[in-house]
Amino acid sequence: MIASRPEAVSSYLAWAKLRSNARFNLAASGVMDYPLAELPVRIEDIEIGGTGPYGYPPLMERLAAKAGVAEDCVVYTLGTSMANFVAQTALVRPGDDVLIERPTYDPLLTILDHIGARVSRFERLAEKGFKVGLGEFERKLTPKTRLVILCNLHNPSSALTDENTLVQIGEMAAKVGAKVLVDEVYLETLFNQSWRSAFHLGENFIVTSSLTKAYGLSGIRCGWILAQPELVQRMWQIVDFTYGSPVHPAEMLAVVALDNLDRVRDRARVLLESNRSLVNEFLAKHTSLVCEPSRYGTTVFPRLRMGDAGKFVGMLRDKFETSVVPGDFFEQPQHFRIGLGGATEMVRGGLGRLSDALDAFQRTSS
Ligand SMILES: Cc1ncc(COP(=O)(O)O)c(C=O)c1O
Repeated sequence: MIASRPEAVSSYLAWAKLRSNARFNLAASGVMDYPLAELPVRIEDIEIGGTGPYGYPPLMERLAAKAGVAEDCVVYTLGTSMANFVAQTALVRPGDDVLIERPTYDPLLTILDHIGARVSRFERLAEKGFKVGLGEFERKLTPKTRLVILCNLHNPSSALTDENTLVQIGEMAAKVGAKVLVDEVYLETLFNQSWRSAFHLGENFIVTSSLTKAYGLSGIRCGWILAQPELVQRMWQIVDFTYGSPVHPAEMLAVVALDNLDRVRDRARVLLESNRSLVNEFLAKHTSLVCEPSRYGTTVFPRLRMGDAGKFVGMLRDKFETSVVPGDFFEQPQHFRIGLGGATEMVRGGLGRLSDALDAFQRTSS
């Protein structure tokens, strides 16, 4: 008999959907929506039906070409969310040991909970720039570890894990027979440097990603998994009994977006460059926050040096109309996450409010 488990719930996603909205929203982690009107597409070009049995062939071809892999290494999914669900369910059985970073993106943990995995953690420490400590990582692996999970870039800190570190992670995991799942949804925000998906670093790597965060295309829900062909077969079987078939108009829009990715990318790059300098000016001014300057990605994850960060975040929202993500959702209650993918004037306004709130909070706490 299978023991019953409590319902798995992602309290973070419920919060993000119901309670993160504010006049100055610094809670979102992606680049703001790309306007549909700026994509060269007419309604007459879109059809309701016409997908393929396992992905729309023109889209599968583009996703494989973009990743530099064979098409039989690609599963098309509804966002990285579904990619993570399908990949984790394909890779983990109830009772399997899984080693996952802390802090991490909450739904990755919730899925493990839902499956009934035995979860252990390796720590990405704020004082070490949230880097993966290979020594600790290796000590946490056991002969029973089936899967290792990390995000690159890291959510919430946006720390980049370099290829050399990833190769070592892959080799250490391989020694105990474990696979490595890397969620790369933020990796495509590395607009100013070349990067390679971890999929290319070893046969035990599985990668999930999408067009959502880096390009402002969340609404199209174009996500994917890169994996070895035999695993891809299993993953498509899981697609069969979950969402079954994709939304064909979204597949067609994804093809248009991919064919015009340069212009979508340019707009995101310019936006993030401006917003990153605003965030870095803000961080340099506030010694009450501990945080390295932003170099990559769409978020920073400062620690409030003194006072209760949970209370501060509540006050920021109630009195200063500004939302950030409370660190509790990342198991780091003294931190909070600031997103820098919004409209520049909104980010500027939000950071101004954040400054005022920090000053007010210091006065009340001293
Ligand atoms: C690490 C990580 N993975 C996946 C997702 C979900 O991505 P998508 O919008 O592509 O479903 C998020 C969203 O915040 C995320 O932070």
